[in-house]
Amino acid sequence: RRVRTLDLLQAKAEGRRWAMLTSYDQYTAALFEQSGVEALLVGDSAANNVYGHATTLPVTVDELIPLARAVARATARALVVADLPFGSYEISDEQAVASGVRFMKEAEVHAVKLEGGTTMASRIRALTTAGIPVMAHIGFTPQAEHSLGGYRVQGRGEAAEALLADARAVAEAGAFAVVMEMVPAELAARVTAELPIPTVGIGAGADCDAQVLVWQDMAGLRPGRAPRFVKQYADLHGVLSAAVREYVDEVREGTFPEAERSFE
Ligand code: KIV
Ligand code: NA
Repeated sequence: RRVRTLDLLQAKAEGRRWAMLTSYDQYTAALFEQSGVEALLVGDSAANNVYGHATTLPVTVDELIPLARAVARATARALVVADLPFGSYEISDEQAVASGVRFMKEAEVHAVKLEGGTTMASRIRALTTAGIPVMAHIGFTPQAEHSLGGYRVQGRGEAAEALLADARAVAEAGAFAVVMEMVPAELAARVTAELPIPTVGIGAGADCDAQVLVWQDMAGLRPGRAPRFVKQYADLHGVLSAAVREYVDEVREGTFPEAERSFE
């Protein structure tokens, strides 16, 4: 049976933590849910991890929908959430609902995610009123990286009150969960204890109700240095590089394909 937003609320009530990963294609989606991941995020991080952009800003609804559709189709159990990309919900509540409807109809995802706190409360209310569950995203919000001055921890010192206000606002507006990105662990713990809805941490300490990571980061596929909050559970970059190098060598030597892989 499919995980529903109510199951995640129930998990919070019972003190059961759950795991979320990004996914952008059918094989990872099926493998992740079979490995116990409760919720999958078709993130606008596809801008970086699929389409090769430097930021999340350029990716469009038209580019995300086919990926979201593949993930939804490949799964039977996980709750599938799609990011509303930059430019698809800022203008008005009507624009947000129109974009949300496209993801629900064309990709058949189960919820959408958008970035912002108090300023996005009316968007969250409009979407939930339309029957579209919303996961909020506060703290560091990558779509706003140019106005936030780059990747930096949010909610330190004086800014803690504003982050708390954002968390309360999105819960009050009807979000079923809230991602907190790059927030001091102690503040994230306070938000998690106070809010009635699950908190999903990324760089927000272990006291959140759930955690989320970009899969290519946690599996070590992405080359280069990962952010501090990423734990690399595998070295897919190394594994795949070695396999491809061996294949290339064997093709050059003429040892692949072997007789048993050839036809008479
Ligand atoms: O797009 C994304 O991958 C995200 C998560 C990292 C929270 O928004
Ligand atoms: Na995102």
